[in-house]
Amino acid sequence: MGVDVRDYIQSRIEGLTEDSQEFYSQVPGQANDFDTWSALKLILHSATVNMYTTVLAQNDYYDDLYYIDALAGSGVSQYNDENRCFLGSPLIAAKDATVPFKKMYFVEKDPDHAEALERRLEYAFNQKSDKYAEPEQWEVIPRDANKAIPDIISGMWRSFRNNDNGLNYLCFIDNQGMNVKWPAIEELTPKPYGDLLINLPTSQAIGRNVGTYPETVGEFYGRDLSTVDIPDTGMREFMRDLYLEQLEDRNRPVQVNTRVEADVGSYYYDMIYATRDIKAGNGYEETIKYVRDFIEQVHSGDVDRILDVLDGSQSSLSSYLPDDDEGISEELAEESSDEDSGQTALGEFQ
Ligand SMILES: C[S@@+](CC[C@H](N)C(=O)[O-])C[C@H]1O[C@@H](n2cnc3c(N)ncnc32)[C@H](O)[C@@H]1O
Repeated sequence: MGVDVRDYIQSRIEGLTEDSQEFYSQVPGQANDFDTWSALKLILHSATVNMYTTVLAQNDYYDDLYYIDALAGSGVSQYNDENRCFLGSPLIAAKDATVPFKKMYFVEKDPDHAEALERRLEYAFNQKSDKYAEPEQWEVIPRDANKAIPDIISGMWRSFRNNDNGLNYLCFIDNQGMNVKWPAIEELTPKPYGDLLINLPTSQAIGRNVGTYPETVGEFYGRDLSTVDIPDTGMREFMRDLYLEQLEDRNRPVQVNTRVEADVGSYYYDMIYATRDIKAGNGYEETIKYVRDFIEQVHSGDVDRILDVLDGSQSSLSSYLPDDDEGISEELAEESSDEDSGQTALGEFQ
C-alpha cells in the first residue's frame, strides 16, 4: 500500500537531471554555477515541495497554496563545465508539486538569469504532458528579493481578502551569501502561514564575516551583534543556533537542520526547514528528517560515491539510506492512501 522509501528517494534523485539538457538548450549559455553538493540540497528541496503539496492539498482550510523561490536562478545548473546539467529549483518545484500551486513567484535579480528562467518555465508549462504542474498563475520577478518579498506578501493578502480562501506558502531561500536579509524574513512571518526552507551560508558568508563586518551580518540576522557574546570556539554552530532562535521568535519553532558539507572539513552550509508548531505534527517532518540523515550520510563518501548515488547506482543508494525508516514510511503511506483526508493529522492545521 505504502510507497517504498527507497523508490521515493530514488525518484527524487532521478528528477534532478531528467530533461535538464533539453531545458538548457532552450537558452544555451545561461546556467547557475553548481557543484556536486548543490545536488544534495536539491534532494531536500524536492522532498519538501513534494510532501508540502501532498499534505497541504488535503487540508480543507488552505485553498490557495503559493510557492516563492526567492533566489530562483536561471532554471538550470551546470556542473563543472562538463556537459552535465541539473534542473534548477523552480523547475523541480513545478515538477514535484503533486497539486498545482495557486501562484508561483520566482524572484531573480540578474536580468539574464530571469529571462532564461522565464523561457524555460514557458517551455515546461507548454509541454503536452502534465509533468510540470502549471500553477493558476506564475511570475518571474526580476528584482532584488529584499524588495520583492513585501510586495509578494501584500499580493497574497489581497487575493485572500478578495476571495476569502485560506492561504499557505512554501518559500525556498537559497542564499549563497547573505542575500535575503532579516526584514524580508519578518515580512514572511509569522503570518501568513507558511513553511520556510532556507540555505544558511554558515561557514562562508557568516563565519568569515562576523568578526570583521558584524554590522553586515547583523542586518542578515536582524540583531545588533555588538550586544551578543559570540564565542571564538564553536562560533559557526553558535551563529547557526542564533538564526534558528530568530526563526523561533517568528513563530517557526519546528526546525529540521541539515548540514551540507560542501567540502568536508573546509566549508559547509545549513539547510533549515522551519514551520509552525502544530500539535499533531505537520504530516511531513519525519520525511524531511529522513532525507536529512540520508544527505548527511552521503557526505561521508567521497565525490565519486556521491556521483554514483546521483547517477542512480542502486547499491550506492542503498548503502546510504538510514536504517530507521519507520517515520517516513508512515508519512508516505498516509500520503499515498486514498482515505478521507480529514482523518489525517492535518485537521490540526486549522
Ligand atoms: C545559486 S543561484 C540559485 C539556484 C536556485 N535556487 C537553484 O537551486 O536552481 C542564486 C541566484 O540568486 C540570485 N540573487 C542573488 N542575490 C539576489 C537578490 N538579493 N535578489 C534576487 N536574486 C538574487 C543570483 O543572481 C543567482 O541567480
